[in-house]
Amino acid sequence: MKKTPSAHYRIAIRQGKDWMSHSRDPMHDQVHAGNVEKKAIEVYRELVSSHYPGIRAINPELARIAAWWHDCYKAQMGSYGFYANIYEGRESAKIIRVQLKNLLSREELELLADAVHYHSGSAQLWYLFFNRARSPLHRILLEADAYDILGTDNLRERFRHVFGLPSKLEYLILQIIIPMMLPLYLKTKTARKDLFKRIFTFWKAWFGPSPFVLEYLRKRTPEHKKRHFSLVIISWDDCMALTYPALISVYRTILRKFGIRAHSDEIISKALNDFHSSHIAFGIHDTETFRDQLETSIQKQAWNILLLPLVRKTVLSLANRCPVAIVTDTSESLVNSCLKRYGLTRSISDVRAGIRQSGRPNPVTTLIKHFHRKPSDVLLVCNHPHDIRIGRNAGTAVAYFLPQENEPYLPYIGQRSDTEDFTLRQFSDLLDIVDG
Ligand SMILES: [Fe+2]
Ligand SMILES: [Fe+2]
Repeated sequence: MKKTPSAHYRIAIRQGKDWMSHSRDPMHDQVHAGNVEKKAIEVYRELVSSHYPGIRAINPELARIAAWWHDCYKAQMGSYGFYANIYEGRESAKIIRVQLKNLLSREELELLADAVHYHSGSAQLWYLFFNRARSPLHRILLEADAYDILGTDNLRERFRHVFGLPSKLEYLILQIIIPMMLPLYLKTKTARKDLFKRIFTFWKAWFGPSPFVLEYLRKRTPEHKKRHFSLVIISWDDCMALTYPALISVYRTILRKFGIRAHSDEIISKALNDFHSSHIAFGIHDTETFRDQLETSIQKQAWNILLLPLVRKTVLSLANRCPVAIVTDTSESLVNSCLKRYGLTRSISDVRAGIRQSGRPNPVTTLIKHFHRKPSDVLLVCNHPHDIRIGRNAGTAVAYFLPQENEPYLPYIGQRSDTEDFTLRQFSDLLDIVDG
């Protein structure tokens, strides 16, 4: 065999890498080719040390080139398909004969094209049943390529690349059957290393508990099983809307009129824990004027208040299951104007203010009475320690939900001493709790 200059091998490898890095097929991309290259060199060394017939005539660089070019046809495919599976070897060989014509000697090119042509399809059956490799290079490629069948890189990506239910099913079945054949198929020690362990890991990655399944199982645990509720009461300010920034700005303006300069932290800790008595905490005695101004300014801010993610969608679905009411510490009219803006007026059965206001009946208890409900059939959704306590005292079930957006305010709203029955990771988790 005529010797090809090493610079040409390097170019052929570089071009192969470039080709595969533009692959449209996540099952046959540069990750797969890179894995095959690594294994191909190991298999080559094993064959050299075991004096495999004809191995001395093979250049290790050729094994690397085979690894980078063997799937060049599939790399161009936009989807998984029957034709590509059967004829990919033949098609890749055609590409190789054109692309590498000026970089390899004629003999090397033919040896490479032959190994690639027969790395898939029926030649694999000859290898499986009769241990027939067409050449040492063919053997290296078959072993290294099959070794990577158990690779677990981008499993989900690979599955997304298979279109249509029949193809997806066929693909999943192959993921079960092919690994079972590998112990018979693979002949070299290199490729058989840790084989059963790798098969198990591969199946676990495909069919074992994925984050999706684990999440599903979590929701099936007794504490997360759906329950029947005849009324859901949600705390507006902490769970449904991002009101804190608007409130801080309103407070700052009014306090300034009273000659008081307050930092956001102070406003949060004094005002947001008891909206209606907050003026006392700031040393303001003119209750009437302060409340009037607060109410007017807050109304002006209504357009500025945003519902938190998934709230609208969840409330619309929830309202088909049972009545949904809102409790707030700010004002009923503020909540109502926001609900109107979001088209939720008809989905909310009642809005009551004053949840943190001392000295008057609590709106949670008032709502339970108003709807003639058993407290144990009512779910209160909140995160403020005061509200959790209200729910506990009233005898309702409590779901804790702290939106990510409100986390920065958490240090200012005090320690909670009561625990919840449900913890929501996102607002829409309510739909997993409340039975329809
Ligand atoms: Fe292939
Ligand atoms: Fe491959």
